[in-house]
Amino acid sequence: MKLHLGMMVAASLALAVGCSGGKDQDAGQEGAGAKSGKKIVVGFSQIGAESGWRTANTESIKSEAAKRGIELRFSDAQQKQENQIKALRSFIAQKVDVIMFSPVVEAGWGPVMKEIKDAGIPVIVADRRPDVGEDMYVTFIGSDFVEEGRRAARWLAKKMNGKANILELQGTPGSAPAIDRKKGFEEVLREHPGMKIVLSQSGDFTRAKGKEAMEAFLKSPVGRTANALFAHNDDMALGAIQAIEEAGLKPGKDIIIVSIDGVRGAFEAMIAGKLNCTVECNPIIGPQLFDAVEAVVAGKPLPKRIVVDEGVFDQSVAAKELPNRKY
Ligand code: AHR
Repeated sequence: MKLHLGMMVAASLALAVGCSGGKDQDAGQEGAGAKSGKKIVVGFSQIGAESGWRTANTESIKSEAAKRGIELRFSDAQQKQENQIKALRSFIAQKVDVIMFSPVVEAGWGPVMKEIKDAGIPVIVADRRPDVGEDMYVTFIGSDFVEEGRRAARWLAKKMNGKANILELQGTPGSAPAIDRKKGFEEVLREHPGMKIVLSQSGDFTRAKGKEAMEAFLKSPVGRTANALFAHNDDMALGAIQAIEEAGLKPGKDIIIVSIDGVRGAFEAMIAGKLNCTVECNPIIGPQLFDAVEAVVAGKPLPKRIVVDEGVFDQSVAAKELPNRKY
């Protein structure tokens, strides 16, 4: 059972708002529409394979393309923006029907997105939004990362009765989920003067770097005062759990842990009592992305923003929920 539901309302609102403006439904839809009847070709630039979430996201996109008979030209950027920019330019040269991408960081996309727009190729943004004007893409399908940060903080404030020394493991510097989750988390902390972040460091959304950062936290005198951890994703939390155990402490008890994503590994850690709560970030967005691709190619209007429906799960529901997890 999900502890918080409410994104349905947000999603409907986003759809309603997005549908109202004709001006927003642009970015070269005609180019793709003209090719209808032929096999659709989509170029997709993925960030990498840094986390369990990302692997599930790639699988959802690849399998959905195959199911619909859409040709997917997939490029893995290995978490480097320059690789993504190269891939996007190569998709322009290949004259694909639609370009899809998940930007690793928010900034620095203006020039290449203008090249895509000038080439008349529609862009669908997946998962993370780039810092460009809305006229540069057709639609953005992904989670509300600020709300995820708020949900993590609300859960922690309740669990800690409004008093905690918190360690924070941030995601990739400059990425939308790292910026927005921190923003949402801190917004809620301002309502709880007894809750403070005592140390904060990036773990780049990976298990190995999450572990390293946690080891460094636990070696510092300030870090040893901490009784809570907020990790921007489950993989970093799972790495941190290892570091906490190696330091002779009990994760989930000496240090209360909340993270984001909802991967199976997080549910297993909750069942083992080592992780306390995971805020869901749903990577299974292949069906929504390819609904959007087909709509764009058919020249149909799309909302500018589509928010994914998500919940919050803690130890009390972990065992019941585990069999339902798809990633
Ligand atoms: O953009 C979504 C985030 O990216 C996920 O939370 C994280 O696990 C992934 O690497």
